[in-house]
Amino acid sequence: MRRTGFLLLAFSLLLPLQPVQAAPAHGGTPVLDIDLQAPTVPSSPILHGLMTEEINYSYDGGLYAELIRNRAFRNDDKSPVTWELVKADGVEAEIALTDRKPLTDKLPTSLEWKIRSVPAGKRSALANEGYWGIPIRPATTYHGSFYVKGGSGTNAFTGKLTVSLESTNGSAVFAHAETKAVDAHWQKMEVTLTTAAGAPPTANGRFVIAADGPGTLWVSLVSLFPPTYKSRANGNRPDIMGKLAAMKPKFLRFPGGNYVEGDRLWERFDWKATRGPLPIRAGHRSCWGYRSTDGLGLLEFMEWCEDLDMEPVLAVFAGYSLAQQPVEPGPLLEPYVREALEELEYLTGDAAKTYWGGERARDGHPKPFTVRYVEIGNEDEFDRSHSYDARYAQFHDALKARYPKLQLIATMPVQSRRPDVVDDHYYRSADAFFKDLGHYDQADRKGPKIFVGEWATREGSPTPNFNAALGDAAWMTSMERNSDLIIMHAYAPLFVNVNPGGMQWKTDLIGYNAMTSYGSPAYYAQVMFSGHRGDRIVKAGYVDGPAEAPPYSVTRDSRTGRLYIKLVNRLATAQEVRFFIRGARRIAPEGDAVTLSAAAPTDTNSIEEPEKIVPVASRIGYLTPGFTYKMAAYSIAVLEFDVK
Ligand code: AHR
Repeated sequence: MRRTGFLLLAFSLLLPLQPVQAAPAHGGTPVLDIDLQAPTVPSSPILHGLMTEEINYSYDGGLYAELIRNRAFRNDDKSPVTWELVKADGVEAEIALTDRKPLTDKLPTSLEWKIRSVPAGKRSALANEGYWGIPIRPATTYHGSFYVKGGSGTNAFTGKLTVSLESTNGSAVFAHAETKAVDAHWQKMEVTLTTAAGAPPTANGRFVIAADGPGTLWVSLVSLFPPTYKSRANGNRPDIMGKLAAMKPKFLRFPGGNYVEGDRLWERFDWKATRGPLPIRAGHRSCWGYRSTDGLGLLEFMEWCEDLDMEPVLAVFAGYSLAQQPVEPGPLLEPYVREALEELEYLTGDAAKTYWGGERARDGHPKPFTVRYVEIGNEDEFDRSHSYDARYAQFHDALKARYPKLQLIATMPVQSRRPDVVDDHYYRSADAFFKDLGHYDQADRKGPKIFVGEWATREGSPTPNFNAALGDAAWMTSMERNSDLIIMHAYAPLFVNVNPGGMQWKTDLIGYNAMTSYGSPAYYAQVMFSGHRGDRIVKAGYVDGPAEAPPYSVTRDSRTGRLYIKLVNRLATAQEVRFFIRGARRIAPEGDAVTLSAAAPTDTNSIEEPEKIVPVASRIGYLTPGFTYKMAAYSIAVLEFDVK
């Protein structure tokens, strides 16, 4: 966050200390009546969180730090897409996919590399440019690995291989290493590749495996990891994790979204297939049109939660896939209910006393996780057989019988059981959000709690523009005002790889390429809202405010007394708001403001201009029970100050 120096706002922006009478509209200035004497209600402690799924190359080619694309040769049945046999004068070689030399039954395809001749001083080389380039950074250590097996007899290959990081045309080599000698058995080769301090940062890198003699080789599961967040093996990109950490998210809803459902039943998120060593993770086709490695599997989702101190909101497959494939409730659904129970035991069961808890320990995480929230399915209103009520009931009964304290989330209202929480989704224009800010104001407080599990203002691509951030911020004021009822919310989708072909869904919170990432204006609105709020919702309302009076929310920290006021001005002109703060014994004369603003609603951030629109921190002064704050045109503001 950018911080201006200490800024006492100009006199024109503030009224001097003065006694405050009633709260009439003041010369056209809307008056926000904040009643500190009225009873407050708690604001959900886990209101702001994240929603994630494999979409827009969110994990492969995104958060998951693996740099090799098509690492297990499963992306295409016919050809080794993304792999290139580098041409060199006099070298005779060919590559093809084969299932005659499987590494495992889960990774049955390997790359057959037949090298007939290599003139002295030349090499036969396989190259992979990763997800739109392998990022090369100076003084950086990469961990490379692959499985290789040599031929025998006349096809024998028993030499060493050279592994390198190069420019995409091979003219520059940034790091290289040698493997052990190859033999006729599958061996895992591991190399460390360290770039020089002077290596030029570039996304135009490639990973190369080279041989200097003839023979046949089979290659499988090729992997390259740069340094990861918290140095986790098989871990995540530090830059993106850093951006998420700045959002201070309280929970992670995973693994979808549509990704949990799959297009077809056999393409659902099958948690068991996403665990264990990488050679036994087959990966699967995701509903967003590409194959997932499942390298970021169930345990990695949980480690992601651990790393950012988020609680998991686990979505379980509930017997409905997107191509209108519902499983009939009753005995046919039972295996999927069992799958969910086993998943919970895997995550929460004692390592010594439960089978699945033991499996988790064997996978490297002896300590049980805590899971409080489980969502049954995703957007089941799209199931045209209308089977959700019965499917929900079957899951509900089984999960509650075994885990009575679990909070169950239904994806739509159901009649046969009372869910603890219902998940509402909203994808809208900014206008639509501004028109519906009272949506939850009068909602039934005796019914299930609400999880706004997916929502976004869909303006701007690949990431939202400033108008979208205004719509988002306005909607967040309404959710925060109702955060006694709305216990959680999460923007979606979270990520997009901005390279051509990377995006399946427009308007995503955080964009990146191989080298770098940036937050959209909507991202910064999230950072501002989650980082500045109290634990109690304070009663507030406009006194005869004009229709376009800035949407607001007011919360207070019950321990410190600090007051947080959020305002959104979508107008092209500056707008004043006068406050009428009732019931304060003392208001600190100074406080803090954070603002986000743009010159035009279509302005945005991008890879080229990642920080065009970022929050600006300043100090505000001359605070009184009746001070006036002037909002810039097109702006979002959070004001905070101490009140006794
Ligand atoms: O966020 C993109 C998609 O929108 C989600 O996968 C789905 O739940 C919703 O329809």
